[in-house]
Amino acid sequence: MTPGEYKSMVDCALEQSFRAALDLSYGGLAEAMRYSLLAGGKRIRPMLVLEFSRICGGDLTETLPVACAIEMLHTYTLIHDDLPCMDNDTLRRGRPTNHVVYGECTATLAGDALQAEAFGTILRSNLSAERRANCAMALSDAVGLDGICGGQYLDMLGEGKKLSEEQLNDINSRKTGALLIAACRMGVYAAGGSPEQLEAATLYAAALGAAFQIRDDMLDVISTEQELGKPIGSDAQENKNTYMALYGAEECARMVDRLTQRAKDSLRGAFGDTAFLDELADSMAVRRN
Ligand code: IPE
Ligand code: IPE
Ligand code: MG
Ligand code: MG
Ligand code: MG
Repeated sequence: MTPGEYKSMVDCALEQSFRAALDLSYGGLAEAMRYSLLAGGKRIRPMLVLEFSRICGGDLTETLPVACAIEMLHTYTLIHDDLPCMDNDTLRRGRPTNHVVYGECTATLAGDALQAEAFGTILRSNLSAERRANCAMALSDAVGLDGICGGQYLDMLGEGKKLSEEQLNDINSRKTGALLIAACRMGVYAAGGSPEQLEAATLYAAALGAAFQIRDDMLDVISTEQELGKPIGSDAQENKNTYMALYGAEECARMVDRLTQRAKDSLRGAFGDTAFLDELADSMAVRRN
């Protein structure tokens, strides 16, 4: 499969999500959820789920709901991350942010509902009970207190303060790295992969996730709003601690290269065919959005 093929598989499946609810009395909430979910996005996390499942011998059709679930969860984090009480951003995926269109209350609820529906989507899938439980557990490990919520809390507490590299790594491994680790582990779990494969997938994701947030911080400075689909200069405006502020663009680019190499090296030996994951890591290192 190519990235484009995975993306259209996921986009088609997501298009069906919450459609039936549009005509209900609370259809406005379903509309708000679909507004952000279907706004585009690179669909990196679902691709990781699907590809790790594939290289562990899994069935793509059976894994697809798990891939959709992680994108629902990710979309919830984006909606909440953009709220006025958080990063206060007005553009996401090339469109006005959810709260700009639907108001803060509906945007908050759209995020809440997407989070719950993500777990429901895994638990209602056709995978075996054990595989569903493992996927749901991997997701909950990534998104709760120790993961995204803890990371976003520390990100907020750090605004306006000068943090050490260690503190910044800790924040980013939680707010961004954890969900990428979940994506890779969920792919392995959906296919019933081995403990060695789970370990290799985790190491790959940890390095990829670290590189991903450094690149995200770089793009907030070096990209354009047009290309990025979200505002540039948002981090400086919110007095965020970023790798760009700490190290500058050249050192950041070197860090991304080193981490990308480490991600690719982590896969060696555990899987037969790693071409897709090698190329994905390389393309993420130089992405423009
Ligand atoms: C943005 O994630 C938020 C971060 C974790 C840095 P993506 O860069 O994957 O955003 P989309 O899904 O493509 O919009
Ligand atoms: C957010 O990091 C990570 C999330 C949990 C969404 P950022 O705040 O840097 O993400 P962007 O730049 O708004 O996408
Ligand atoms: Mg943020
Ligand atoms: Mg943000
Ligand atoms: Mg950012």
